[in-house]
Amino acid sequence: MITNIGELAGADEDRWLIENAALVIEGDRIAWAGPSADAPAADERYDAGGRAVLPGFVDSHAHLVFAGERAEEFAARMSGRPYAAGGIRTTVERTRAASDDDLRANVRRLVAEMARQGTTTVECKSGYGLSVEQEERAVRIAAELVDEVTFLGAHVVPAGADPADYVRLVSGPMLEACAPYARWIDVFCERGAFDADQTRQILDAGRAAGLHPRLHANQLGYGPGVRIAVEYDAASADHCTFLSSEDVAALAGSRTVATLLPGVEFSTRQPYPDARALIDAGAHVALATDCNPGSCYSSSMAFCVALAVREMRMTPEEAVRAATEGGARALRRTDVGHLRPGARADVLLLDAPSHIHLAYRPGVPLVAQVWHRGKAI
Ligand code: NIG
Ligand code: FE
Repeated sequence: MITNIGELAGADEDRWLIENAALVIEGDRIAWAGPSADAPAADERYDAGGRAVLPGFVDSHAHLVFAGERAEEFAARMSGRPYAAGGIRTTVERTRAASDDDLRANVRRLVAEMARQGTTTVECKSGYGLSVEQEERAVRIAAELVDEVTFLGAHVVPAGADPADYVRLVSGPMLEACAPYARWIDVFCERGAFDADQTRQILDAGRAAGLHPRLHANQLGYGPGVRIAVEYDAASADHCTFLSSEDVAALAGSRTVATLLPGVEFSTRQPYPDARALIDAGAHVALATDCNPGSCYSSSMAFCVALAVREMRMTPEEAVRAATEGGARALRRTDVGHLRPGARADVLLLDAPSHIHLAYRPGVPLVAQVWHRGKAI
């Protein structure tokens, strides 16, 4: 039992915050949550010292199976060069040349880095292999190490390939090799990557193979991505940087989550997505890192929360909920992102009295303790 919790978030369906609370973990599950005064007996106690406890972060969008880095590209961007989808090919070259163990070590390193910062559920995409063998290897390694795996063979057309041939490869042999390891299929639907027809062709094939869609949509400009995501009942439309009012309305009228990745806007000097318009229209919103060596090499959900509050005018409560229950919804998971009885015991103790400090004290490591599946890490 975690006792003396000053502020407990996400443990009650009716009120997101409970003050002076306790939380009981049994095995890998939450057994009880509520006001300290009503707490049951427990054989082991951990004193939270009046600090805040929240559900572990759910990072529903990351690209972790890669080798190398692109610091020079980032530096060039900061002095004015725009971000372009083509940068992905640099990482593809490095990734193809890496051994299985190198890639495995990279994913492990980043998942551990995430866990230290309070992230307890991780989604990871392929997309830096772009051949049948290389993509199969990426999803296989991801499946060993993360909760949710997404097949993103349609990240970019590899150098020298014919686009139509490549779309056939992704929708055919590559999908067949990758489907056993993945739950989701994703397409980078964007000018410079895949257009609307190609996106539909790939999503249709993915659905026929039993995968469910999620989409990289409207990151670099206005386009059809968000509306295709809604049309396909995608679990999530990710980025949503450039949204028309029709896009906002489509999301609001659907169960597709708008997953905002403000670390990308920070690291590419783009405008931030209009989170207020989405929330005010009634759309479901999630926050995720997009951790990858190109558009955002940050694994920090706390940083995303701070950006969401400062730059996107989300309230601290909206931002933390988007980083926990929003991420869970974007992965169609009901066992994570909250701390109600039955939830996976993924618990984050902050070195702060309230969740507001995540935005109020940006850049400060505020994680005091993390429990993953009931075990202190
Ligand atoms: O989500 N948009 C496409 N994919 C990644 C970037 C990948 C890269 O630049 O290496 C993203 O931003
Ligand atoms: Fe991404």
